[in-house]
Amino acid sequence: MENFDQVISRENTSCVKWDGWKNMNKPEGLLPLWVADMDFQAPDAVIEAISKKAAHGIFGYGFCDHEYYGAVSSWMNKRHNLIIAQENVVTTPGVIAALNIAVNTFSQINDAIMINKPVYYPFDQVVEQNGRKKVECPMIFKDGHYLMDFSLFEQKIINHKVKIFILCNPYNPIGKVWTRAELKKIGEICLKHEVLVISDEIHMDFVFKNHVHIPFVNVDKRFKDICVIATSPSKTFNLAGLQCANILFFNDDLKERFVATKRKSGFTDEPNIMAIEATKAAYLHGKKWLDDLIGYVEKNKSCLRTFLAKHIPEVKLVEPEGLYLAWVDFTGLDMDHEQLEAFMINEAKLWLDEGYIFGIGGAGFERINLAVPQSVLKEALCRLNLAIKNRNPHESTPN
Ligand SMILES: Cc1ncc(COP(=O)(O)O)c(C=O)c1O
Repeated sequence: MENFDQVISRENTSCVKWDGWKNMNKPEGLLPLWVADMDFQAPDAVIEAISKKAAHGIFGYGFCDHEYYGAVSSWMNKRHNLIIAQENVVTTPGVIAALNIAVNTFSQINDAIMINKPVYYPFDQVVEQNGRKKVECPMIFKDGHYLMDFSLFEQKIINHKVKIFILCNPYNPIGKVWTRAELKKIGEICLKHEVLVISDEIHMDFVFKNHVHIPFVNVDKRFKDICVIATSPSKTFNLAGLQCANILFFNDDLKERFVATKRKSGFTDEPNIMAIEATKAAYLHGKKWLDDLIGYVEKNKSCLRTFLAKHIPEVKLVEPEGLYLAWVDFTGLDMDHEQLEAFMINEAKLWLDEGYIFGIGGAGFERINLAVPQSVLKEALCRLNLAIKNRNPHESTPN
């Protein structure tokens, strides 16, 4: 069993999560539970593989060999029932790079691209920085759950002649794991209106009990011709700084066009050599580590839920179905988003991801990273509780 309780300092390691305050206009001393990487070491097998490569000392060009593609395919097959081979995979230096390449490949300037809201904010940048028209389809938030508004979804596709829908599956920041029926409905509408679905499945490995991640392409074989699936070991095994992703295609034409844009954009054909070693080791040997980790994060989720219910009932957890990120509703505190942000920084001394940055429906929420040792989470919750009680000194604290 891994020791996820161990606190390993990341300060002064040039990591954005702990050191980023220095150039991101934040004060010193905040406890950072924002960006989506974990405060845990990668599996031993990954550290060993990279150490071995480093010790070899020759860092010339590398390539993804059969073992690499075998490791990716076998993980996708065993974990997600997703049958792929080398021919289905194109590597990129990350999922966001892949989304940019895909948008440039499969749409033209001013074409409409749809995203849900609130959503992982780089989706907005991918659309806007490539000169495409952003069409937003807000989710319905009802009784603590998020649902797709399918009639709005279809209406917007028709009204704006949408070319691409970027699906977040599972869904950051709201923690939703889409059901097969929901994915089927999305796919049917997109098929009907010839919309390409770019399914960002970077969080695919991180789903909690009673939920199953369903790769979009597995829902219906007709979806093979209308989708691109973006995967990566980076969130799963904490490898984001190695910059690697495996983008999956089930239609040769889509794949060839994507590869042509990738080359034209100046990306190298192969990932960096450390990413290759890490991906192989993680997918071949990381299963047990990941299963233990999901159990640990599940305990952190319970800790957060119980703490809020007991001490700060006006703040509500949106029950995550997947991801190691919790989406928490602070609207009960009656602050606008600027007040809430200032409160988190100046009073609670916490650095969280502010809900409003995820767009429509996000203001008043905070995204909290649960991939931390439980003592760190508890420290964050104590800071939060104290700051709230200091605002309302006359309200008694329940035992
Ligand atoms: C949904 C989603 N897509 C993409 C990324 C970033 O991927 P990459 O670092 O591979 O560009 C993240 C990171 O948190 C994410 O949550």
